Amino acid sequence: MATNKTHKIAIMPGDGTGPEVVREGLKVLEAAAAATGLRYDTVNYDLGGERYLRTGETLPDAALAELRQVDAIYLGAIGHPEVTPGILERNLLLRLRFELDQYINLRPVKLYPNVDCPLKDKGPEDIDFVVIRENTEGLYGGSGGFQYKGTPQEVSTQVHVTTRFGAERAIRYAFDLARKRAKKNELRLVAKTNVMTYVSDTWWRAFNEVGDADYPDIHREYSHIDATVMWFVKNPEWFDVIVTENMFGDIITDLGAMIQGGMGIAAGGNINPQGVSMFEPIGGSAPKYTGQNVICPLAAISAAQMMLDHLGETEASARVESALYQALASGKIKSLSAGRMSLSTSEVGDLVAGLV
Ligand code: IPM
Ligand code: MN
Repeated sequence: MATNKTHKIAIMPGDGTGPEVVREGLKVLEAAAAATGLRYDTVNYDLGGERYLRTGETLPDAALAELRQVDAIYLGAIGHPEVTPGILERNLLLRLRFELDQYINLRPVKLYPNVDCPLKDKGPEDIDFVVIRENTEGLYGGSGGFQYKGTPQEVSTQVHVTTRFGAERAIRYAFDLARKRAKKNELRLVAKTNVMTYVSDTWWRAFNEVGDADYPDIHREYSHIDATVMWFVKNPEWFDVIVTENMFGDIITDLGAMIQGGMGIAAGGNINPQGVSMFEPIGGSAPKYTGQNVICPLAAISAAQMMLDHLGETEASARVESALYQALASGKIKSLSAGRMSLSTSEVGDLVAGLV
């Protein structure tokens, strides 16, 4: 059963292969609607590199004001080879995350059956965990600057800002998720307490104080960031729910994406539990493959599934997840790498939609 609500979803196909994969995600959403009675309206937003090159706009205030009013945002990819790095990232993607206070970046790392895993002797039973990346602070705040730029005395700083408030809200979200998953009932803090003696200490105390006070049923673990990446490769089965600061989370989730089969399947949600959340395949715009109908749309489909779950559409979400699972189990998709799937982007979308 679907909820009674008609969800208002902003669609932001973006750059490169974004539009191609978003199209397949929408196809699957339609199939879910037909199967469950799910109702939604979509509004398209033409934002991204092309728009910037054409008009100089990244995120116009009027668009932002509208986006504050939707139920969710479905994003394809942002990034354009002709736009100087940093412009679209900071003024569009990061600005949306900050303005909408999407303080959680939820990145599941799950290996589906029949998906090639680069780790020797590891299978779906070994790789199923979630990274909660704090999404509004740390090195991403943009604080820093230059002194004596362009001289031999050049000084540059990039300030990591952690607030107790920011760490604590991410930690609470992660504890709740560990409880909801009920897998190992475990939350692991990943930090660098031996070097980042201020920032990691704030995280460490918040983690333990919140855990002691409100989550005595959840077992706490800690690991340094460097050891964590080692174990992602050696013992991924050790992980259940991880919480970490922004940049560490950015880096380890690319490794996470690789061990779950690559960028073709990795999805994430930028979540404001009280506000507007945004769901995206985490792979980027892949300009090299644009318009060829060869990019894998499963990450975008998986992002759509996360969005349904977030919107409270549990049946639709479960159906999409099961369709994704069956599509992979069928063995028809030979690889998740662009150009090597043996099916086209739209055929993969058709396959999943047909199984919803
Ligand atoms: C991601 C991306 C972004 C980030 C970039 C594009 C700004 O790498 O979503 O992981 O660093 O957060
Ligand atoms: Mn990243």
